[in-house]
Amino acid sequence: MLSEEQLATYRDDGVLVIPNAIPEASCDALRARMDELVAGFDPKMTSTVFSTTEVSHGNEDWFLSSGDKVRFFFEDGALDDNGVLVVPLDQAINKVGHALHDLDPVFDAFSRQSFFADLAADLGYVDPRLLQSMYIFKQPGIGGEVSWHCDHTFLWTEPLSVTGFWVALEDADEENGCLWFLPASHNLGPKSRFRRHGSGTVTEVLDHTPYDAQGARPVPVSKGAVVVLHGAVAHWSAPNRSARSRHAYTLHIIEGTAEYPADNWLQREVATTGFTQIR
Ligand code: FE2
Repeated sequence: MLSEEQLATYRDDGVLVIPNAIPEASCDALRARMDELVAGFDPKMTSTVFSTTEVSHGNEDWFLSSGDKVRFFFEDGALDDNGVLVVPLDQAINKVGHALHDLDPVFDAFSRQSFFADLAADLGYVDPRLLQSMYIFKQPGIGGEVSWHCDHTFLWTEPLSVTGFWVALEDADEENGCLWFLPASHNLGPKSRFRRHGSGTVTEVLDHTPYDAQGARPVPVSKGAVVVLHGAVAHWSAPNRSARSRHAYTLHIIEGTAEYPADNWLQREVATTGFTQIR
């Protein structure tokens, strides 16, 4: 499916943009399904905020046991000090994760469409497994920053095997918080590893040199584009200061033959499955 030129871009940059990969109607159907899930969510179930700059979620069971569930996480600023919503529910959610692809039939079908399976094959996966899915809202006005990181830090395998497929469900640009990345940073190796420690988590620093954001490049994309992110490439997104949302759906795949550490934050009671496996 991918041309030699596309594969070369991915090898050089660690990121590949595939425009018009997913039909707009498919993006709309996924958004409509998420509207239904949000409408059925009782906000009293949790007050867990997902923030990559505070990381308090890292010690909360709502997060730690969400690897094989569908759970909702609030934006920082969506709740007051008493845990009461200060914005409408449909504008209060930061993300939903992390097993939509296994537990919801609409997300299952979307995640296992042949486009992603073909993409995984082109990237050299022998036994690709769907490890994690997230619906990311990046809400207008309060959608928070996602700090510089590489996905291998959070979804560690030996050897490194995670790849992110980032699907633009709406147009994403610099105003509403599109992705940015550091070209060729996948050659640097991970700066840290986020893992379980005791009853919570810890970020183990492996390289104290911060990413040099000087060469960062924005990735503005239109609805329906897929951005492929190498597991070691550094990426970031700004807060959404615009009045427009910036919904995205992400899938993270790993190689089934790679070792999956028991102290990764994301643990599942059922094994990961591939693109064609019947569950
Ligand atoms: Fe990421």
